[in-house]
Amino acid sequence: MSIKAQNPIGIIGAGTMGAGIAQAAANAGWPVKLYDVNQTLVDLAEESLVKRFERLVEKDRMTNEESRACQDRITTTIVLEDLSDCDLVIEAIVEDFDIKTIVLKQVGEYAPNAIIATNTSSLSVSELGSACGFSDRVVGMHFFNPAPIMPLVEVIRGEKTSDKAVQRATLLAEAWGKTVVQVADTPGFIVNRVARPYYLESWRIIEDGIATVDVVDDAMQSLGEFRMGPFMLTDLIGQDINVATTRSVWNRLGNPSRLAPSAKQESLVERGNLGRKSGCGAYAHDDKDHIVPAIITETREVEISDHLVTAINDFCLEASCTGGSMLDKYIFSRVLSGIINEAMWAVTEGVASPKDIDTAMKMGTNYPLGPLEWASRIGIEKVHRLLSALNETVSDDRFASPPFGTVSA
Ligand SMILES: NC(=O)c1ccc[n+]([C@@H]2O[C@H](COP(=O)([O-])OP(=O)(O)OC[C@H]3O[C@@H](n4cnc5c(N)ncnc54)[C@H](O)[C@@H]3O)[C@@H](O)[C@H]2O)c1
Repeated sequence: MSIKAQNPIGIIGAGTMGAGIAQAAANAGWPVKLYDVNQTLVDLAEESLVKRFERLVEKDRMTNEESRACQDRITTTIVLEDLSDCDLVIEAIVEDFDIKTIVLKQVGEYAPNAIIATNTSSLSVSELGSACGFSDRVVGMHFFNPAPIMPLVEVIRGEKTSDKAVQRATLLAEAWGKTVVQVADTPGFIVNRVARPYYLESWRIIEDGIATVDVVDDAMQSLGEFRMGPFMLTDLIGQDINVATTRSVWNRLGNPSRLAPSAKQESLVERGNLGRKSGCGAYAHDDKDHIVPAIITETREVEISDHLVTAINDFCLEASCTGGSMLDKYIFSRVLSGIINEAMWAVTEGVASPKDIDTAMKMGTNYPLGPLEWASRIGIEKVHRLLSALNETVSDDRFASPPFGTVSA
């Protein structure tokens, strides 16, 4: 089944995400009504959208006529009631439960037949639905930044979300050229949860004094073919944003040791070292984007038992990562097995299917392979053997995996 552009799509919030979603919608031929709280904000969003479409013409990605047509499809408003003729409204306002609830309730009343999609990253879709009183019509549509470019949308079904709402959100995102994964309403959905060990296990390697940030980044890029190492990436995302997501997912999941925040990363944020935007994070960044590690790690020789060496070598061999030093392999296998483990827990807990988890991690974070594809390539027994060997080296049981056989990769 497919859908065609008819009624306008309403978008509430003309900030980073709202404006990006408006661009994606208009680009796909959809009329858009973009709302924000005052005229200055909607004017700014409109100016920025015009510039973006003009830039696409300069880059030969669209013609002048197409650019004008896209611009004409977007109208702005500061009157929420103007969205009453929309049959789907996407909310992209501040990440605040109470403010979102008020706005969702208002729009639900003004547009009594509209599906109401929330772009929340960290709040419960079910709780938002029940707080605003329109549980059946509220669905999660989690876009990624930049929304016009990132191909993934996580569609989240709240406890009482209707099939119609899920189907409509899915068809709409697909009609805009997005790849959709279906996710249960669980903390961090897929991407923000399964990606946590990429950062956290890397920070723990630093805390353990095993390697410096550049060595960890190099190991993950060279052995794992990750596009960006975890420290470079968290500097780009913002260490503060990364810490906030970790805290939110960890708290909402009931504080599992696997996802406990890193004290070292949190103290970096407390000192105002937020990454590229503040000039310093895990690395010191200069204007020309030259970087040098900014975290001093007194490294020590890692003691790895024979048993762990065998598990690491087997894991790396099957993952086709045969180059690199033993330290590189240790880093790569420790971080990657943490990600695979989180993906296995997510499958066990019914967050999403293995296929959707793999798709989400490849499209939402550019992983070269999905975690369960990796597990399948390596062999699930070897993954379990490594996790169990790593678990013997820690006191917090964080490499404990779902029982062998519960997840088949
Ligand atoms: N920025 C990201 O990378 C990202 C990625 C995925 C999801 N999200 C989610 O998208 C949502 C928006 O994030 P953002 O980064 O675009 O924020 P933003 O701060 O750039 O924009 C939020 C906009 O909402 C408007 N707003 C605030 N209160 C409002 C109200 N009562 N009514 C209407 N508009 C109001 C603000 O004026 C602002 O223009 C959040 O829920 C966030 O968690 C953000």
